[in-house]
Amino acid sequence: MTEEERNDIGVKQAISHLRYLWGEINPDLTIVCGSGWGGLSKIFNDFKSVPFGDIPGFSSTTVEGHDGVLSLCEINQKQILLFQGRRHFYEGAGWGPIRFPVLLAHGLGTKNLLLTNAAGGINSSFTVGDLMIVEDHINLMGSNPLIGPVPDSETPRFPDQTEVYDMGLRKALQKVAEKEGLSIKAGVYLALSGPAFETPAEIKAFRTLGADAVGMSTVPEAMLGNALGMRVLGISCISNLASGISTDKLSHEDVKDASLLALPKMKTLIGSFLNNLPQ
Ligand code: HPA
Repeated sequence: MTEEERNDIGVKQAISHLRYLWGEINPDLTIVCGSGWGGLSKIFNDFKSVPFGDIPGFSSTTVEGHDGVLSLCEINQKQILLFQGRRHFYEGAGWGPIRFPVLLAHGLGTKNLLLTNAAGGINSSFTVGDLMIVEDHINLMGSNPLIGPVPDSETPRFPDQTEVYDMGLRKALQKVAEKEGLSIKAGVYLALSGPAFETPAEIKAFRTLGADAVGMSTVPEAMLGNALGMRVLGISCISNLASGISTDKLSHEDVKDASLLALPKMKTLIGSFLNNLPQ
């Protein structure tokens, strides 16, 4: 059996298990929480949770700052599936664990996929704590999760990527930010495999390429969600200025701390967005 076939069976078992735990579920939106975004769960009053490791076919995240819990939440009679934490390519377990949440969300019929992350700011107008709507991406991870058999007969072999991040959702988020009086940036996210942070020379090169922010996630899930026909939205929290832009050394601790400082803003923005989720 191939890795992909195992993955597929895993997703089907996971769906049956979640239906067994939670009954018939129909999430309108799936949210994947990046570093420091796990506190978003506080905007929901009512939810049921299961650790990643208890979901058949899935496994716990090995990265600090990622809780590794899947929750089913409700807001305004809409169901939200919330992945508190994500798996990363640099963990070394291949694409399976990164594909899994997206395939699971798609298998449960979710149309909308919100991917969040912490990122290093490259654009000189960005400051720590800014939120950035991902307008587009540059994939320099050296691989991608679409390599291998297509997940199903409806998924194209060669997916179009002219609008990976859905314009309607981006506009809706921008509108909500204006309504809440929050300033929000927009830009291009460049993805690398990590786990090392970049060198100053790399950041200089990436700025020339058109990147506004840099990180180690989001792009794989966005590529898969787009290929499956989901509406994808990406939001980065600028947790630090990228290597060489400030003289500070970079650490995962600082990334987590800065994201936590931005949490009140994230909660207001996402709470309001969920109340105004476009049909
Ligand atoms: N580089 C890569 N990934 C990151 C960064 C960064 O500066 N900050 C948060 N995630």
